[in-house]
Amino acid sequence: MNQKKDTFVIAVDGPSGSGKSSLCRETARRLGMTHINTGSYYRVIAWQISLRPGFSWTQEEVQSVCHEIEEKFHWDSTTGNPLWEGQICLKQLNSERMGKLASQAAQNTHVRQALKEVFRRHGCMDPHGTIMEGRDIGTEIFPGAALKIYVDLSAKVRAERRFRDEYPHLEGNPDNYPLELESLLTKIEQRDMRDSERDVAPLIKAEDALLFQNDKPFRESAANLVEIIKSSLSKK
Ligand code: C5P
Repeated sequence: MNQKKDTFVIAVDGPSGSGKSSLCRETARRLGMTHINTGSYYRVIAWQISLRPGFSWTQEEVQSVCHEIEEKFHWDSTTGNPLWEGQICLKQLNSERMGKLASQAAQNTHVRQALKEVFRRHGCMDPHGTIMEGRDIGTEIFPGAALKIYVDLSAKVRAERRFRDEYPHLEGNPDNYPLELESLLTKIEQRDMRDSERDVAPLIKAEDALLFQNDKPFRESAANLVEIIKSSLSKK
């Protein structure tokens, strides 16, 4: 591994729904760095595979989908929108179904290997630095990252936050809707379990990662993270 290149990478890991994507996007914007949301690549893979009936999951087929993704999938870093051949594909990627399919695709070793190569190439491109977020960035993709952060938030708070997206017609305190809240909590806990108990690249906090509780208002959290990164990089 090239240690010099890794010094450009801030590795951020954490469970689904912990708010790390919005946090990383804003932090990268404030620091003039590139933001890479690796979960979106797993979602794109899941989406593209779901469009290919009879997909065989061989190394060749997986690599061919990955090559297509490198060509056709991009981020609009100003709006934070994922683009497929220039068209916004947020809806296709952000459904609960695609999250589940992505989590399943993420258990496939060919998918992980192919994406690892993509992430390692992309993480080293911006000389101003890259904030790369996912589940295994500090443990598998860039174990030599300049700084590792593990973003956490309790499953209950994540379910309450997701409540507004999933049930926009229900008003008031989510605690008034125990059945809906319970169903979201169950899905979140199942996803956490799939991500942290899988054999390949499970979600775990790297030993040298800093624990960041994302339970403050958004601006305050982003300001805190900016300061943590600045102060850590100034010591290097
Ligand atoms: O972060 P997001 O929920 O969009 O990720 C979708 C799925 O992709 C996750 O449930 C996880 O299984 C997988 N993933 C992963 N490794 C990463 C990023 C995401 O396994 N680095």
